[in-house]
Amino acid sequence: MKREDLVKLLESMTLEEKAGQLLQINVSSYSEEGSETGPKAEDEFSVEEIANAGTILGAVGAERIRNIQNAAMANQPHHIPLIFMADIINGYRTVFPIPLAQGCTFDPELARLGAEIAAAESAAGGLHLTFSPMVDLVRDSRWGRVMESTGEDVFLNCSFAKAIVQGYQGDRKPNDASPFESGKIAACVKHFAGYGAPMAGRDYAEVELSERTLREEYLSSYRAAIDAGAEMVMTSFNTLDRIPSSGNEWLMRDVLRKEMGFGGVVISDWAAIFEMISHGIAEDEREAAMLAIRAGVDIDMVTHCYSRNLAGLVRDGIIQEKLLDEAVMRVLELKNKLGLFENPYKDGSRELEEELILCDKHRETARKITAESFVLLKNDGILPLEKNKNNIALIGPHGKNHAINGAWSIFGKEEDTVSVWDALSREEDSLIYAKGCALLDNNRGLLMYGDAIDYENDKAVAERQLAEAAEAAEKAEYVLLAIGEPAVYSGEAASRSDIVLPACQQRLFDEIYKVNRNIIVILFSGRPLDIRCISERARAVLVVWQPGTEGGNAIADVLYGKVNPSGKLSMSFPYCTGQLPIRYSTMISGRPFTDERNKFCSRYLDIPNEPLYPFGYGLSYTDFEISDISLDKGTLTGEEGDCITASVTVKNKGSMAGKEVVQMYIRDMKASVARPCRELKGFKKILLAPGEEQRVEFRITEDMLRFYDIRMNYVSEPGEFRVYIGNCSNTGNEAVFTLA
Ligand code: GLC
Repeated sequence: MKREDLVKLLESMTLEEKAGQLLQINVSSYSEEGSETGPKAEDEFSVEEIANAGTILGAVGAERIRNIQNAAMANQPHHIPLIFMADIINGYRTVFPIPLAQGCTFDPELARLGAEIAAAESAAGGLHLTFSPMVDLVRDSRWGRVMESTGEDVFLNCSFAKAIVQGYQGDRKPNDASPFESGKIAACVKHFAGYGAPMAGRDYAEVELSERTLREEYLSSYRAAIDAGAEMVMTSFNTLDRIPSSGNEWLMRDVLRKEMGFGGVVISDWAAIFEMISHGIAEDEREAAMLAIRAGVDIDMVTHCYSRNLAGLVRDGIIQEKLLDEAVMRVLELKNKLGLFENPYKDGSRELEEELILCDKHRETARKITAESFVLLKNDGILPLEKNKNNIALIGPHGKNHAINGAWSIFGKEEDTVSVWDALSREEDSLIYAKGCALLDNNRGLLMYGDAIDYENDKAVAERQLAEAAEAAEKAEYVLLAIGEPAVYSGEAASRSDIVLPACQQRLFDEIYKVNRNIIVILFSGRPLDIRCISERARAVLVVWQPGTEGGNAIADVLYGKVNPSGKLSMSFPYCTGQLPIRYSTMISGRPFTDERNKFCSRYLDIPNEPLYPFGYGLSYTDFEISDISLDKGTLTGEEGDCITASVTVKNKGSMAGKEVVQMYIRDMKASVARPCRELKGFKKILLAPGEEQRVEFRITEDMLRFYDIRMNYVSEPGEFRVYIGNCSNTGNEAVFTLA
C-alpha cells in the first residue's frame, strides 16, 4: 500500500480503532490452546477490543493462522490484517542450541544460518515476526534467562545480535521501507534495556547501572541489532535508575529513537505497561497508559491499558492525538512492509510447512551447529572414544531425556529430539543404561508444570535407582554420566540462589566414583554451574547446554571424534555462586590481588578470584600453539584509515584436524576513567590440519579504543595500550602499542 493510502486509512479511524491497533492480544483470545508466557490480564477482552486488535501473540500453523486472520479481518472495522508474532528464540520446529550455547561457537555465521532456518520454517507456519534476538548482556548465572543471551561479552553479543537479525530478516537497513522477502520474518530485539543485570540475579528485580556502564556495555548489543535493521524493540520489565523501561521517556525517546535512530515499533513486554501500577509509578491503568504512550511504547502486550484509556486520554486533553497517530502509523507501516495489506497470510502454506519443517537439510545444519556449541572443559585423553572398543555404561537422568530444547522452545516437540541414548545405542552394540536418579530433588518453584517434573520423593525408589547405577558402573569400563539441569531450571522466572547440581545428581556422581573412576560427564545446563564437585574427579567434562533437536547425534559426533570440539565459553563458569556476578573484563581495583600473603587487596578469604573456567576457554582433541605475537608498528596515529596489524602464528601440533578460536583483547593502561583489565576486540575461528600452521591477523583502529570519558564523551584517549592474543580471555601473549 502507498504511504498516502496508509495516511488515509489512519485518518478514517476513530480513536477507539486507533487504540485497538496498539493492542496485542494473546492467541488464547481466539482459541483455548493459547501459549501463555506470563500472567494473564485480569479479565478477557471485550468483543469490540478483539475486533479492533492490531496484533496477536502465540499463534502458529499456516491453517490456524489463516483461519484467525480471516476471522479477524472480517470483524475489523477497516479489515486491517493482524501481525502474527511469537517467541521463536532458538528455532521453530527444528530446534537449535540455546543462544548461550550458540555464543560458544564464536561463529555468528552459524547463528545466522540457524535464524534463517527458523525464519523459513516459521514463515511457512504463517508467522510474521519473532520476539528475538534477546541480546541482554549477562554476568550472573543465578538469573535463569542467561540461557537466552549469547553471553557476558559486549563484542561477542554485538556480533551475534547482528547475525541473528540478518538471519531472520535478510540484509535490511535500519528503517528500511522495502517489502520483506518471502521466507523472512521481522525481528524484535529485546529486552530494552539492561534486563540482564537484575539485582542478585533474581528475575524482574531492579537494575542499578551507572549511565557509563549502561551505555558502554549494556546498550551496545541492542544498537547492533538496530543497526542490522531490527524492525521492533521490546521494553524490559526492570527499572533502570528506579524508572520502569515502559515508562522511561529518556530511554525510549532520547536514547532509542533519537540517539540510536530507531524508527520502528516498540512493544511492551508481557503486561509491562500494566505492571507500572505494581512498580508504584502509576495509580491505575489510565496513568500507566499515559506514561507508556508518552515514553513512545507503541504496542501494549496483552493488557487493556491502551485499549480502554487512550481514547479518553486524548478526549480529556491529557495526551495529544498526534502521539497516538505516530504509534498507529508505525504499526501500519510494519504491516505494510510485511506485505499484509496485499497478502494477509504472507508465506503461510501447508505445503511449505510439510516441505521445510524438520527436513533433512535443517536437521543436518542443526547437528553441525550443535556440535560446535559444546565446550570441552576437561579431558585427560579418555576422549575421543572408539566405537565398540570399551564397555560403556550410559548413566544419569539426562541419558534418555528428550526434553532438551531449552526453556524457550515453545513450538519444538520432544518427540522430534534425539536423546543421548538414541544416538549412542545406534553406535554401541552393548550399551548399558541406568537412570541413577531423578533430575531434581523436588519440584519447588515448578508447581505450574504439574507432574511433568522429574523428581523422586520415594526413598526406596531412589535407593534402588542408585544401586542399579552403581552396579552398571561396576560392570563397565567407562561411564558416560549424563547429568545437569532440566530445561525448566533456566529461562524466564527461573532464578536459582545456588548454581550447584541437584543433590541427587551429586550423590549419583559420588556413588559412581566409588566403583568406577573412568567418568566422562555430559553436562546439560541453561547456565554456567558450580561444578567443582565433579570437575576435579571426572576424567572429562563436556558441556552440551540444552542442545535441541539434534542433541544426541551431536553428542555422539563429538564423543567419537567425528567432530573435534571447538566451543569456547561465552560466559564464565564461576568457582561458586559467591563469585557472582562475574566477568573476565573486570576493573583493576586500587588494590588488585597479588598474593596470599597480602591481606589488604581485592580478594576473598575463602576462594580464589578467578572463575573455575574463564570466558573464551574450551579444549580441543588436538593441541594448538599460539605464538609469536607481533605488531606491524608501535604507534597508532588515530588518523582516518590508520591501523595497526597485530598477528600471531597458530600451529596445530596434534594428530587431529581442529578449529581454534583466536581471540584478541585490548587493555587501555590509563584513561580519564578506570578501564577494564581487557576487552575482547576481535576473534577468528580457523580450521587447521595436523601440523598445519597459519598466521592470523587482526586490525586495530582508533574507533576500537573509544569509551565514555570523564565527561561522558565517547572518545579514545592517547597513551599506552596492551594487546593480548590467544585462545582464552586469560592469555598471556602480550604486545604494547601507543595511541598518539
Ligand atoms: C515474556 C518474555 C518475553 C517474551 C514475551 C512474549 O514475558 O519476557 O521475552 O517475548 O513475554 O511471550
